[in-house]
Amino acid sequence: MAEYKMHVLVCGGKGCNASSSDSLAENLKAELSKQGMDKIAQVVKTGCFGFCEKGPIVKIVPENIVYTQVKPEDAEELVEEHIIRGKKVERLLFEDPETKEKIGDAKSMNFYKKQIRIALRNCGIIDPENIDEYIARDGYEALAGVLNTLSPDEAIEIVKSSGLRGRGGGGFPTGLKWELTKKEKSDVKYVVCNADEGDPGAFMDRSILEGDPHSVIEAMAINGYCTDAAYGIIYIRAEYPLAIERLKIALQQAREYGLLGNNILGNEFDFDIELRYGAGAFVCGEETALIHSIEGGRGEPSMKPPFPSVEGYLKKPTNVNNVETYANIPVIFNKGAEWFSSIGTEKSKGTKVFALAGKINNVGLIEVPMGITLREIIFEIGGGIRGDKKFKAVQTGGPSGGCLVEKNLDTPIDYDNLIAAGSMMGSGGMIVMDEDDCMVDVAKFFLEFTVEESCGKCAPCRIGNKRLHEILDKITKGNGVKEDIDQLINLGNVIKDTSLCGLGQSSPNPVLSTLKNFMNEYEAHIVDKKCPAGVCKALMKYEIVEENCVGCTACARACPVGAITGERKEIHAIDQSLCIKCGACLDRCKFNAVIVN
Ligand SMILES: Cc1cc2nc3c(=O)[nH]c(=O)nc-3n(C[C@H](O)[C@H](O)[C@H](O)COP(=O)(O)O)c2cc1C
Ligand code: SF4
Ligand code: SF4
Ligand code: SF4
Ligand code: FES
Repeated sequence: MAEYKMHVLVCGGKGCNASSSDSLAENLKAELSKQGMDKIAQVVKTGCFGFCEKGPIVKIVPENIVYTQVKPEDAEELVEEHIIRGKKVERLLFEDPETKEKIGDAKSMNFYKKQIRIALRNCGIIDPENIDEYIARDGYEALAGVLNTLSPDEAIEIVKSSGLRGRGGGGFPTGLKWELTKKEKSDVKYVVCNADEGDPGAFMDRSILEGDPHSVIEAMAINGYCTDAAYGIIYIRAEYPLAIERLKIALQQAREYGLLGNNILGNEFDFDIELRYGAGAFVCGEETALIHSIEGGRGEPSMKPPFPSVEGYLKKPTNVNNVETYANIPVIFNKGAEWFSSIGTEKSKGTKVFALAGKINNVGLIEVPMGITLREIIFEIGGGIRGDKKFKAVQTGGPSGGCLVEKNLDTPIDYDNLIAAGSMMGSGGMIVMDEDDCMVDVAKFFLEFTVEESCGKCAPCRIGNKRLHEILDKITKGNGVKEDIDQLINLGNVIKDTSLCGLGQSSPNPVLSTLKNFMNEYEAHIVDKKCPAGVCKALMKYEIVEENCVGCTACARACPVGAITGERKEIHAIDQSLCIKCGACLDRCKFNAVIVN
């Protein structure tokens, strides 16, 4: 990198790729070459910058100017104005939605101000397909240091004292897990990376693997040394082709550099990694199900203990960690456990990556210190609620997490506080809801997911969740009765207490947490037969207000099922037995004559 004066970093993450960042990078290269600037400035395709909502992103260093929503046809102007004339292209700078000020420097953007990027440190900075760029950012220094200067026990002690906890959802102390695997006596042990990432809307792990695959490879090798394991397996869902491609390239490069294989860096330590593909079942992210899937069996969880650290892949001790957990490891060795543990709260150290989604202005990938509040995430980093609507709830912890509300907004986020508030950290999905979301419908949506994804091995989850879903469906269709509330609570608690794995143990959470916080909405559906948010179609009634109707016929012409009758200049009427509640009449009427009840 050093020979170039400027680097034009173009996001090559999946989101920006889908918006033609590939062609943009090609056009920038061609333009630099045409202008004779290709020896001065270099185009680098990086991983995700996080600000996916405003992608494709281009960042020019050393000035650190960020351009948003850049199109392939903007390449010529960027090169001529910024690279040659040294002038910012104002129209491509991010506009602060409040001040309307154009901001070029990432550090001044609310989206980035409160972020601390540890696991994502190289995403959006290096070319993930070039091992030299990883090495230039201290890559493989931690592995070299551990192999050359520390015993496995000493290295594990560093991970333990960093306070790092598993980012896959459970928050189990990582150093302790490594120690447990190390203590097992066995001729063969395994290191597994869980890259299944099944939460709907989550893309934390994919982004790390697409943007910085070597950080995970390096951490797995360190883990292998610490636990006496020579084999590593990355279990990744087959729906992540870009991450798979970059991992394959990275693995090959690491082997060529002697960072994987036999006698790594001249030491008596052999370690290599292979990829295994998952078919995309959510339950296969559960570590015992994942191990069965790698073994070629059905992706069904089994009873714990024994934990994988004791009896895992092929019944051998196996250390399973999540992608983000591994991505933190090299930095902990490079910067020290004390540095890492200085970030975060008393019991949750470091940062957490979240995929911010839903009714929020800045959808994207963020990494924030533990202890930050939901309010800071939603209203500062996330830019508030889209369309100036009112905040209603935020779902953390994925499909089996819980909905948190206004009163939880100032709670410092960490593993324990989220559980105390009725949700959980999960792997990092965060879905924001506004006043237009119906919380009964939201609970039904998540239940639909868990019913679909239940492996069916145990009855409480297989049958119980289906019953929960049926009750919710009944309520949203206007057929609920008061007793349904007690049924939901009792059944939900039984499923939690009696299911075999974490999927069933947490699947009633969306129902229980919405019941706790939005009982009035359930009652409105059951008692008043109304959906306050206007989402549940069966409870909506489109009607025409006679005094407002001028008989323009627009609604009748728009109605797809001929449910509206009336002659020109006469009052129109809706036949409720035919109406399919599509809302076309409401959209079409210019006289406020159509209303929804
Ligand atoms: C239904 C279910 C799905 C899970 N999915 C994932 C997943 O996609 N990725 C992940 O890392 N952990 C997932 N987990 C957690 C894993 O079982 C395991 O705790 C984790 O991989 C351990 O790594 P960590 O200690 O680094 O978090 C899931 C757990 C359950 C119960
Ligand atoms: S709780 Fe659900 S997903 Fe887990 S083993 Fe039982 S049936 Fe399968
Ligand atoms: S569009 Fe409105 S005003 Fe026109 S006929 Fe329909 S209800 Fe009446
Ligand atoms: S809501 Fe749709 S189906 Fe019902 S009357 Fe209006 S246009 Fe027709
Ligand atoms: S994919 Fe480009 S910013 Fe996220």
